[in-house]
Amino acid sequence: MTKFSSVTKVTTHVLQEMKLKDEKIAMLTAYDFSMARLLDRAGIDVILVGDSASNVMAGHTSTLPITLDQMIYHASSVIRAVSRALVIVDLPFGTYQGDSRGALQSAIRIMKEAGADAVKMEGGVEIIESVERILSAGIPVMGHLGLTPQSIHKFGTYVVRATEEAEARKLVDDAKKLEEAGCFSVVLEKIPAKLATEVSSKARIPIIGIGAGPGVDGQVLVLHDMLGITTEFSPRFLRRYNNLSEEIINSVKSYIGDVKSLDFPNEREQY
Ligand code: KIV
Repeated sequence: MTKFSSVTKVTTHVLQEMKLKDEKIAMLTAYDFSMARLLDRAGIDVILVGDSASNVMAGHTSTLPITLDQMIYHASSVIRAVSRALVIVDLPFGTYQGDSRGALQSAIRIMKEAGADAVKMEGGVEIIESVERILSAGIPVMGHLGLTPQSIHKFGTYVVRATEEAEARKLVDDAKKLEEAGCFSVVLEKIPAKLATEVSSKARIPIIGIGAGPGVDGQVLVLHDMLGITTEFSPRFLRRYNNLSEEIINSVKSYIGDVKSLDFPNEREQY
């Protein structure tokens, strides 16, 4: 039983309190009603409707193709299932970069049509105008720095980011700018643990890591990766809590066998 497990609804304020009281924040992705309901029942603090849905749910090789309509579809399914967790929804690629008015319209659609609690956006100083405009409308924003998958074509590789001094300093500066703009939290993806600890200790807002070591205020993983439903993706930071791909394949094989052998349905499984 943790200090915050009795909270009936996790809010951005609760996350701030968790940082102050030194209780780590547990966050996972979900993209559909059934999984989101299980996560909420298990007591997860934050659910991210990530644009990783583009890879995990739609089979694309990057997060770039997913659309705002598709994100709203996933997010509204998740939100129907959740009563306790804070639900954050990714603004997809192309819906906020370079046009802060368009960015606000995208965020408003996510809040209005899906019923999200907050949005997440990738980038630092380059997107600060969009971040500020969205915040000025009263919409909570989570930042995302480090390996930002929407910029994969710029990076050209999925290697650890900010290992060079210049990129590390820019990341520290970007995190500060996002906090000063009013973001309630920032995700740091695949950066050296020492750098993430530095950002987290300087920040007043909670810093959530994925491949950023233990010195941050919380952790996030992609649900399908940690459950072992997806098997192709195996970065060092990923801990697998199950091997559901094997369990699902074996269950389906048993079903096929039972149907072919006339074992299913039996006497009790018919009317
Ligand atoms: O889309 C996503 O799943 C994410 C997490 C990896 C943080 O942004």
